[in-house]
Parts: sequence; C-alpha cells; structure tokens
Amino acid sequence: MAKLRWLGHAAWHIEVDGKSVLIDPFITNNPAAPVKLDELGKVDFVIVTHEHFDHLGDAFEICKRNDALFVALYELKVRAEQDGVKRTMGANIGGTFTADGLRLTFVPAVHTGNPSGVVIHGSDATIYHAGDTALFGDMRLIGQLYRPDVALLPIGSLFTMGPQEAAVAASLVKPKVVIPMHYNTFDAIRQDPKQFERLVRAKAKGVKVVVLNPGESFEYARKGARKG
Ligand code: NI
Ligand code: MN
Repeated sequence: MAKLRWLGHAAWHIEVDGKSVLIDPFITNNPAAPVKLDELGKVDFVIVTHEHFDHLGDAFEICKRNDALFVALYELKVRAEQDGVKRTMGANIGGTFTADGLRLTFVPAVHTGNPSGVVIHGSDATIYHAGDTALFGDMRLIGQLYRPDVALLPIGSLFTMGPQEAAVAASLVKPKVVIPMHYNTFDAIRQDPKQFERLVRAKAKGVKVVVLNPGESFEYARKGARKG
C-alpha cells in the first residue's frame, strides 16, 4: 500500500514501503499547504525535482530536522551540502538506482532551471511525479519503461502543462490513476480539475482521474485503489 497525501502545489507526502518521502516540499509561504513544517512527522527522504522556490521550498530545513536523505540532480545536491544538509545523494536523469532502499529514476522534464521528474518504484505502486514540465513525446517512453500506477501531473498552465496538454500526457504515460497538481495555488494558475477530468476521459481511455484537495490522501495498492 502506498499513501499519497497532497500538500498543495507540487508538494507530496508519500508513504511507500514503510518509508516517509516528501517530494518538492514547498510548505512555508505555500498558500495551499494544509500543514506547517512541524506537523509533518517523521521524514526519511526529501526528493526535489528542480531548484525553483516553489519546489525546493523547505527541503533543506526538513532534511536537517529529520536527518532525512536529500535526493536530487547533482547540482542541487551540491547546494544542499553547501547549505549544511548532512545526508545527500546526487543523481542524474538516466537509470534506476537505489537510495537507502528506495528505488528511484530521474526522468526528463521540459522546463527551465535544471528540471527533472522522478519515478518511485515501490513494491505496491510505481509513482511518477512529473515535476514542472511541458508536454513532450518521450513521456510515452516513461510509460513504456516504468509502467507507473499513479502519475502526478501539473495542470496549472503558464509555468507548466495546462489541462489539455496534461490530458495528452496521461494518454502517453498511461498510468492507472492520474492526479492533477500545480494548480490553484495562486490566481495565475487557476484551473478547473473537472475540465482536466473530462479531457482525460476523452483522450486517455482507461486512465482514472482522482482529484484531491490539499490535505487529502489517495491510497494505492496494485490490486485496487481508494480515496481516503
Ligand atoms: Ni519550476
Ligand atoms: Mn513550479
């Protein structure tokens, strides 16, 4: 069973294989964040897709408080070290590797600021967090190679894919479940997730859309899924 809790924007708290993983933990100054930093509980890993403030967020602080492992592309790992984070692992876009028992792959993203997406290969669920990205054709390869069960896709437009592009992304990745993110945090990225849901239904047959509010969780195990 993997549990994915949306913390607003691109921030996720994921429990997978007994590990507590934060991705892009933009908590402080995130108007959509349902929690404060000291309410996160135990954190084992902090994974950051790129350096933009709305993704790097509180990553260094959370790592320091929890002695958590910071995992990101190499340049960002160096920045974490310079900031005083003790446990870091630098990787790059390419193959699958293991960090403290967690299997991960960094995948391309089309964006500025040294971007990536990340795939978490859990025993119960494979999760693809697309980071900030435009639509690109090689998302099909991410789908073919890693067969994500759950894809977390940005739909805010302006800085990332909008609902139309993200619906096509869902058709390329072909996850079991897609959850929209990176919208409604600020007025500039206001979107209707129901519109995204309609577009996915039309363009990506067989892909289920789960819409969460910040603070809500989705649980997935390969046999079935439920919103909790
Ligand atoms: Ni960005
Ligand atoms: Mn962003």
